[in-house]
Amino acid sequence: MLLEKIREIKTAVEQLAASNEQELEDLRLKYLSRKGLVNDLMAEFRTVAADQKREVGIQLNELKNALQEKFNELKQSLASTETMDDDVDLTRTAYPIELGTRHPLSLVRREILDIFGRLGFSIAEGPEVEDDLHVYTKLNFAADHPARDMQDTFFVETNEDVIKNIILRSHTSSVQVRTMETSQLPIRVVCPGRVYRNEAISARAHCFFHQIEGLYIDKDVSFTDLKQVLLTFAREMFGNDTKIRLRPSYFPFTEPSAEMDISCNICGGEGCGFCKHTGWVEILGCGMVDPNVLEASGIDSSLYKGYAFGMGVERIANLKYRVSDLRLFSENDVRFLDEFQAAH
Ligand code: DAH
Repeated sequence: MLLEKIREIKTAVEQLAASNEQELEDLRLKYLSRKGLVNDLMAEFRTVAADQKREVGIQLNELKNALQEKFNELKQSLASTETMDDDVDLTRTAYPIELGTRHPLSLVRREILDIFGRLGFSIAEGPEVEDDLHVYTKLNFAADHPARDMQDTFFVETNEDVIKNIILRSHTSSVQVRTMETSQLPIRVVCPGRVYRNEAISARAHCFFHQIEGLYIDKDVSFTDLKQVLLTFAREMFGNDTKIRLRPSYFPFTEPSAEMDISCNICGGEGCGFCKHTGWVEILGCGMVDPNVLEASGIDSSLYKGYAFGMGVERIANLKYRVSDLRLFSENDVRFLDEFQAAH
């Protein structure tokens, strides 16, 4: 009788099922709890005749194990379907994938370098921590030139011999010197990089910014070549209708020197607030390389001539994207950076 009961329940174990927590709990109560069937059978087991105890005991144990195993199995499969339900909502829209954006200064830098690359210029770079020799002396700056002053230059290490002073470069023209010292002629390079000046940070000035320098040295280089290359650059960068204007200026390392304006790309030269109603905006400095600069780096100025130019990347970015506060470029505010998503 007990043996039969045990066998009967045992054959039913395989069919047991639970589709939720409640049903599983009901099963546990019915079979495995203190008042459950297994315990009833245990009580009955005590009345079994001694000679049958062994056989019935084995069967009862097997049933108990089978029930416990089944219960664990059901519990586990319920748990795994439940986590699916909790964590995976198949009807939910996908998370938006956040794509990074290129920094506007990187976009502008790349565009400028691309344009000059197509005109045959290769890229040269130099150190940001420099010495006076490369930043000033070999570029024909007089010993008492104000640019060397504390007001402008960040000093890293001062020296009795001024040309050995270690400083942060205040312009990328230093890379001109490094290139002339180490390259074979002719030279045709553009030199992008970060520069540092001891300025109070405001919307219009910063203690670091970016420049791109250009240098071409060959046997027959004229001011006309310079003008043509800069006109091509201005049109590629700001559109085919762009006009340029060269105004006489002064830099120690070029003679003659000029500053270049482009027709205001906001009002098309009509005059607006941005160009202070002049129709023109300044974008770079340029000129013919001073023979002293060539000689200082061992280039024979009776055989070779050159032109050079230098522009601020922030300035060009400002014209292109109307960024009115320089500080935005280095604050890394994602709301600002996200605006350049479409500019790639
Ligand atoms: N180095 C100048 C500056 O930082 C810019 C410049 C002007 C570079 C004229 C040149 C140049 O190569 O020819 O303001």
